[in-house]
Amino acid sequence: MTVEFDPDSRTFLLSTPRTSYAVRVVDGSVRQVHWGAPLGIGAAASIPLRPDGGDGEVLGEEFPGEGGLRFGPPALVVDFGDGARSVSWRYESHSSDGPGLTITLVDDHYPVALELHYRVHGDCDVVERWAVLLNRGDAPVTVEALQSGAWTLPRRAGYRLSRVAGEWGAEFQLSRVPLPHGESTVTSRRGTHRHQTNPWLMVDPGDATEEHGEVWTVALAYSGGFTLTASRGYGDHVSVLAGPDHDTAPPRTLGPGERLDTPMTLGLYTGGGFGGASHQWHAYARRHVLPAPTEERPVLYNSWEGTWFDVDEAGQIETARIAADLGVELYVMDDGWFGARLSDRAGLGDWSPNPDRFPSGLGPLVKEVHRLGMRFGLWVEPEMVNPDSDLYRAHPDWVVHQPHRRRTEVRHQLTLDFGRSDVAEWAYEWLSRLLTDNAIDFLKWDMNRPFTEPGPPSTAAHTRNVYDVVDRLRARFPHLRIESCASGGGRVDFGILRRTDQVWTSDNTDPVDRIAIQSGYSQVYPAAAMGAWASESPNPINGRATPLRFRFHVAMAGALGVSGNLREWSPAERDEARALIAEYKRVRHVIAHGELYRLTPPDAQTVVVQYVLGGESVVLAWRVRGRIGRPELPVRLRGLDPDATYEAGERPYPGGLLLAHGLDLDLPRGDHASTLVHLRRR
Ligand code: DGJ
Repeated sequence: MTVEFDPDSRTFLLSTPRTSYAVRVVDGSVRQVHWGAPLGIGAAASIPLRPDGGDGEVLGEEFPGEGGLRFGPPALVVDFGDGARSVSWRYESHSSDGPGLTITLVDDHYPVALELHYRVHGDCDVVERWAVLLNRGDAPVTVEALQSGAWTLPRRAGYRLSRVAGEWGAEFQLSRVPLPHGESTVTSRRGTHRHQTNPWLMVDPGDATEEHGEVWTVALAYSGGFTLTASRGYGDHVSVLAGPDHDTAPPRTLGPGERLDTPMTLGLYTGGGFGGASHQWHAYARRHVLPAPTEERPVLYNSWEGTWFDVDEAGQIETARIAADLGVELYVMDDGWFGARLSDRAGLGDWSPNPDRFPSGLGPLVKEVHRLGMRFGLWVEPEMVNPDSDLYRAHPDWVVHQPHRRRTEVRHQLTLDFGRSDVAEWAYEWLSRLLTDNAIDFLKWDMNRPFTEPGPPSTAAHTRNVYDVVDRLRARFPHLRIESCASGGGRVDFGILRRTDQVWTSDNTDPVDRIAIQSGYSQVYPAAAMGAWASESPNPINGRATPLRFRFHVAMAGALGVSGNLREWSPAERDEARALIAEYKRVRHVIAHGELYRLTPPDAQTVVVQYVLGGESVVLAWRVRGRIGRPELPVRLRGLDPDATYEAGERPYPGGLLLAHGLDLDLPRGDHASTLVHLRRR
């Protein structure tokens, strides 16, 4: 975790525990010379610059602009108002403070400057980067595009691109395809990434596996619209430009003396395959992103799949008593508790308890939940409004809209313009009041629609102000914990994870579908933050029937929750759920803080994941579909000490046997059999 400098070649070397990243200042532009296995400053200084591309194209720039021999997507386009749109940098200075480096460039002619910031850590291989554009003049300039930066990969043959795509109920579906020549763009114009995409991608030379091979990953720590463009030139030159802008993002004015900071882009190189990349991302999230990483996530109950919009004091108290008896630690009341919110058609924006459902306010329910020894959580959707609400009738101008254009509704709701400081302040005030007046421990912060008709500059300002409101709430209510939700996993990224404790991964709670969703999520994001519920059978979303044990075992791969109408669960179901929750509590520290190994692909007949923390390991195995004549193979475990003896219950297992021969799962016959094996070193 150091930054070294070679003054002769003007090469900077950033070192992480297992990787090196080197850049060089050449003719006023900063060019990347190495990103990969570790090397010393002498070696970094001697690496030749990447040869120019066709037509003399300048390659390998950390922050490519427009103009000159630059033909790729630009990180910066500035309109100076006199016909000039390009920048021409000259090096001004640099400073380094141990793990951080800042290189400052200034334009040859116009009074604008650019700071390129870098930071590395001593305990993971992620390189953090961001940029700051400064207007040092006395006239405004128009910024048409400002991205966070470009990452250049070494030249290898056969590059492949991995990313996730999806839909509502089918988030995080992993796609892995050859990287085509030209530009491949992962982007969202929905104001946040929603279910269709997620702000990261991975590139490998075509031969990486789960356990072996080189993988380069780029992510953006940001919850708004974004673009990641992977460009592949004919000579196998590959670079990835990452940032918050996309082709319909509006320009911004940068006034005299003002600055624009970009979101952070994150780069990770590993030689350890896709699994190795996940280990590093998870370590980064746990050590440098999540606000309370060492806390165990409480087992929660959520009312949504139990009572849907039909919540009231008596029903919730009755359910809370059952939940407490099962071992639930956090009781979350979902949608339907406020205003005229009897369905998704009305009431959003009117944040006081519905007097018919909660005649004495939330107090009696919160008190009872606390008396039962659980924490209390509440669903809110602060960025939205139903047109049929008192809020909208009073402030029709508060929503994102354009003059003379229809206000497009999604789920019968409109988006409040959080980019306006008065709207953001209103939200901060009512949320603060709600938290002051009621002993609320947890908020599920939902966001159920994409942006439409965004007026400049609302989406970027919106994201900034959402962050600001959450940050201020956390500072004022330090005990508060928050779940990020956007119709399921529509807002999961390193920007929101910096200020929330967990995410709602998907509205699809069917355990079979969930296996692929969770596997895609786990490529980058940590189990500690992955909200997962064991709910009803048949599943209310897709109608599939599965055993309770299977539902729980799949949900145990993250932060376990329960949903469903507990009042209708039989005594036998409740007993089984109680035992499974107790089992989860014995192992959740290993799942949350351990290293995850995906031992099989997510579409295997029996899917197996393993977590290792020190001398403990947890194996979760889920048989999706049994087939006669195809018994399970022993699963070879990972990350264990071959010379140690482990035991599961009373049964001893030599570590070497588990690594070389594997663990025999001994699953019972039939579809949807599952098991949890907890191994402890003797
Ligand atoms: C969408 C969320 O993903 C669900 O869990 C639930 O909170 C509903 N919104 C409530 O409207």
